[in-house]
Amino acid sequence: MPSFSREQVYIVTGASSGLGEATALMLNERGATVIAIARNEKRLLDVKSKCKNPENMHIEIKDLVEDIEGLPQYVKELKEKYGKFSGMAYCAGISNIIPLRALDFAQLENTHKINFYAPIMLTKGIVDKRNNIGQGTSIVAISSIASKCSDKGHVAYSGSKAALCASLKSISKEVIANGIRVNCVLPSNIKTPMTAIEEYEESQKNLYPLGFGEPNDVANMIVYLLSDKAKYISGQNYIIDSGGVL
Ligand SMILES: NC(=O)c1ccc[n+]([C@@H]2O[C@H](COP(=O)([O-])OP(=O)(O)OC[C@H]3O[C@@H](n4cnc5c(N)ncnc54)[C@H](OP(=O)(O)O)[C@@H]3O)[C@@H](O)[C@H]2O)c1
Repeated sequence: MPSFSREQVYIVTGASSGLGEATALMLNERGATVIAIARNEKRLLDVKSKCKNPENMHIEIKDLVEDIEGLPQYVKELKEKYGKFSGMAYCAGISNIIPLRALDFAQLENTHKINFYAPIMLTKGIVDKRNNIGQGTSIVAISSIASKCSDKGHVAYSGSKAALCASLKSISKEVIANGIRVNCVLPSNIKTPMTAIEEYEESQKNLYPLGFGEPNDVANMIVYLLSDKAKYISGQNYIIDSGGVL
């Protein structure tokens, strides 16, 4: 089990719900300091109330798409408040199923803003050597299995997630010389507020030989990749799909 010290400070976006919440709680439990970012203050406070080490869980209310260009500066401001970062788990995102005939440009753009542009610009802030600890810094972003096997209606979603994987691969090659690792995890359907699995659990269960995933199934992989246990791993995409979808 990876463990961390309180001097290791990680940004976790999407920390108010689902996979980000599970990641923030697990990192905090293992000893790291977590900067938990989302828009919904009440849900972030709920997460803080559940965590094991509340003194090491700091919440930041932020809409990550309102000033995407300013996100590197936002990281700098957080660094001045909390200290240099050991990394980031980018777990914010939206999912939408819209067939091409109904898709307009605004929907396409909105999906890309939170699923693709915001993680790239936050990463730009983290990899700036003034904002990270150097060797040992690790960034993990949640993409999706939809980046590999797209279904009908996933025009915007799959594109944003495939773009994220491709760009982070490029970034991983750019920053490895500074000791910074960058990886993606690609879950299939996990039980979170985003998926509302109860509605189709019965009809899809054959696709998931190990059953539908729980948030901690993804958080375990993210926390491992953030930790020094994964010090030889960068530029990879890890599918977490119950051994069934792909
Ligand atoms: N669950 C799955 O089966 C699954 C599978 C594959 C990939 N994923 C990916 O995993 C990520 C997390 O999914 P989830 O299931 O945990 O979803 P979720 O429970 O709906 O959580 C989404 C998180 O993103 C945050 N967020 C959304 N828009 C934001 C914005 N503009 N600014 C700041 N934060 C924002 C939300 O916080 P606020 O609303 O408080 O801002 C929330 O914390 C997504 O990228 C999703 O595509 C999920």
